[in-house]
Amino acid sequence: MSCSRIFVFFVYHLTLAFLLQKAFGAYNCFNSEIFPANSPDEANLNGLISTLSTQTPQTGFGQASVGQSPNRVHGLALCAAYMSSSNCQTCVEQAGNEIRNNCPYNKGAIAWTNRNGDCLLKYSNVEFFGQVDNQNKVFYQNPNTAVNPAAFTLQTNGLLLQLSDQGSVRPNRSASGELQVYGLAQCTGDLSSSACKQCLDELIGGTLPTCCNGKEGGRVFSGSCTLQYETFRFI
Ligand SMILES: *[C@@H]1O[C@H](CO)[C@@H](O)[C@H](O)[C@H]1NC(C)=O
Repeated sequence: MSCSRIFVFFVYHLTLAFLLQKAFGAYNCFNSEIFPANSPDEANLNGLISTLSTQTPQTGFGQASVGQSPNRVHGLALCAAYMSSSNCQTCVEQAGNEIRNNCPYNKGAIAWTNRNGDCLLKYSNVEFFGQVDNQNKVFYQNPNTAVNPAAFTLQTNGLLLQLSDQGSVRPNRSASGELQVYGLAQCTGDLSSSACKQCLDELIGGTLPTCCNGKEGGRVFSGSCTLQYETFRFI
């Protein structure tokens, strides 16, 4: 069965999440076409994952293309701003393993790994750098409802929109802040400022209201950007 249309959504309970850190993660084999085993594509994918595992921990973002057309593969990886470089490296390696295990010969796949989607790794045989990918998406909801949901949501959206403005124009495409809640907004480093802002604003306006309206925490990850907020300091 093709998993290309399957989006994986998780609802987590915070206490459980801490106990079951390793059990959470999501992936999507978004290109159902497969390449042959032992093909140059497979070798290129292995080379790409290894390059991204080395490169990404240095700044939190990595991007590479490996091999020659028509077997060339393109990929990127992003780690959450709160991760140490060694945790980032472990996370990207795990994401690579998840992709190899779950989408072994797919021509395009993405994995979000660790407790809260701490890192993502995406690759494709089609070059995709600079394009906003909000098709691939996963979210986690903190199931606790805020005491005053409407006011809370207004305040949270205000903070996240501010982080979208700030982060999108920074070279590292990342911003965190605090306004009753703690928030973090990040884009993959291949996006222009305007694409980054578009990506984040779509998640704020389109996805958060669906997944996390009035909830004390929400974390949304797409193929191009990530948004997280909680009432506790997770950053
Ligand atoms: C991104 O850059 C800003 C300054 O432009 C810095 O304050 C912040 O810590 C950086 N974030 C990451 C994740 O490197």
